[in-house]
Amino acid sequence: MEYTELGSTGLKVSRIALGAWQFTETWGVKDYALVKEIVAKALEVGINFVDTAMIYGRGMSEQLLGRALKEVEGGEEVVVATKIPGDFLSPEDVLRAIDRSLNRLQREKVDLLLIHWPPAWHNFPTCAYMRALERAVALGAVSYLGLSDYPVELAEAARSCLAREEIQALQVRFNLAERWAEVDHVPYAERHGMTLMAWSPLGKGALTGKYGLEDIGKFQDVRINEPLFHPANYTQVLELVKVLRDVGSKYGKTPAQVALNWLISYSDVVLPIVGARSPQQVEENAGALEWRLSYEDWRLIDEASKRLKITYITW
Ligand SMILES: NC(=O)c1ccc[n+]([C@@H]2O[C@H](COP(=O)([O-])OP(=O)(O)OC[C@H]3O[C@@H](n4cnc5c(N)ncnc54)[C@H](OP(=O)(O)O)[C@@H]3O)[C@@H](O)[C@H]2O)c1
Repeated sequence: MEYTELGSTGLKVSRIALGAWQFTETWGVKDYALVKEIVAKALEVGINFVDTAMIYGRGMSEQLLGRALKEVEGGEEVVVATKIPGDFLSPEDVLRAIDRSLNRLQREKVDLLLIHWPPAWHNFPTCAYMRALERAVALGAVSYLGLSDYPVELAEAARSCLAREEIQALQVRFNLAERWAEVDHVPYAERHGMTLMAWSPLGKGALTGKYGLEDIGKFQDVRINEPLFHPANYTQVLELVKVLRDVGSKYGKTPAQVALNWLISYSDVVLPIVGARSPQQVEENAGALEWRLSYEDWRLIDEASKRLKITYITW
């Protein structure tokens, strides 16, 4: 495994994180025994960083993950990121939500707390909730703060409210088929020493190459409405997967491993959060590390990926 520093916290985290959204109805890993196996495998391959959120299964993911981290050897040392929904950001709710999260995670402290998305409906003033989060750090309930799915302009506004803390991590969608993070977020994270946690780094499985066009109508999970799996988009994704497969064959690597390696090579601040539905997938994803694509191969993939024109208006 490779390790890096989380923002400027001094914490040493693995270069990929395990995504725990999978431990919900949405993705279907609800059986605790399987969750425990996935978490145990992650620790075994050296992953020490896990991402969950209060909203994932309305606490189910935190609960299953918290239990597994208690029971698997070494689990207590794992760095856990969780996220507070942008809807619960009245200063009173911030502390209440953190208490509940700690209870589900069976921990004394949240290592990294991110705001899941900017508030849209309740119009909480940015500095009111950012100061409440800073209070949670001062009181010892949270170690570090981050922002998820914030446009850079809003991230900067939120950051300017903080008197003592820094934003240590940003989360944003970033994968070979969806590259908007390159425009603002990556340079912003690089400039400010933040970790850029790339979510859906495998495009929810689209970049693994295991689904044909004939499979995409059969999903029973979150992917029913995922634009990447719309035929107009997925046809293009399959062209990219061909390139990933060809390049991967030179290195003895799978399309998933190549797709993750491309992201890791993009910038040293990029840290993919990879979801897994089995211990085998965790193991395969860990094989994305400890090697690098050559410059020529990285560019070949870059060019192929830039040919994609993904549309999100699919109806
Ligand atoms: N901040 C945010 O707003 C936000 C949003 C989304 C996600 N996230 C975080 O990011 C994490 C990852 O994102 P994601 O779950 O959307 O997508 P992802 O990591 O791109 O895809 C995960 C899915 O790909 C498949 N897969 C994983 N490894 C594989 C392998 N080696 N070979 C074949 N298939 C493999 C699995 O599904 P199948 O086996 O069923 O194909 C798995 O559930 C989440 O768990 C969550 O923690 C954050």
